[in-house]
Amino acid sequence: MDRIFETANTNETQELGKALGKRLKPGDFLALTGDLGAGKTAFTAGIARGLGIEEDITSPTFTIINQYEAKIPLAHMDAYRLNGPEELENIGYYDYLEGFVVVLEWADRVECLVPEDALRIDIAVLDENRRSIRIHSQSPKFDKILQELNA
Ligand SMILES: Nc1ncnc2c1ncn2[C@@H]1O[C@H](COP(=O)(O)OP(=O)(O)OP(=O)(O)O)[C@@H](O)[C@H]1O
Ligand SMILES: [Mg+2]
Repeated sequence: MDRIFETANTNETQELGKALGKRLKPGDFLALTGDLGAGKTAFTAGIARGLGIEEDITSPTFTIINQYEAKIPLAHMDAYRLNGPEELENIGYYDYLEGFVVVLEWADRVECLVPEDALRIDIAVLDENRRSIRIHSQSPKFDKILQELNA
């Protein structure tokens, strides 16, 4: 199932992320794609809010994995600077798959690591402040969540 949302500013993107984040469970994997500056990290900040995380989210571009503790913890990953999937595997990628909500930016760079049932989120830049956010579910659990998202 596919849904496409359009946001007019950063806050609307975060609110969409937050609405999604509220519905996520440990083991949920979100694969994010979109150009530099599209809004992947902004969307993830919203997800964190939805999970009840109050800390500010910073981009994991250099740290590769940032982890945030909460009732449902978040592992925020970024594959932009990786030379290959093994770099992510070597810093503990598999340790996060069950107990965390995992959000992976630049998922297309490590496609072989993305679980088959991952929720796919692609953000396209329409103009300076408008974004098109396409969310593609490949599993019944995410279909249900997608149906519940209003906008
Ligand atoms: N509708 C919008 N949704 C999200 N971000 C927006 C929007 N309009 C403007 N922006 C701005 O675009 C930028 C998005 O930056 P962000 O770091 O979230 O992108 P990114 O996709 O994570 O980039 P990178 O590939 O470098 O990780 C921010 O400066 C944000 O304020
Ligand atoms: Mg980012």
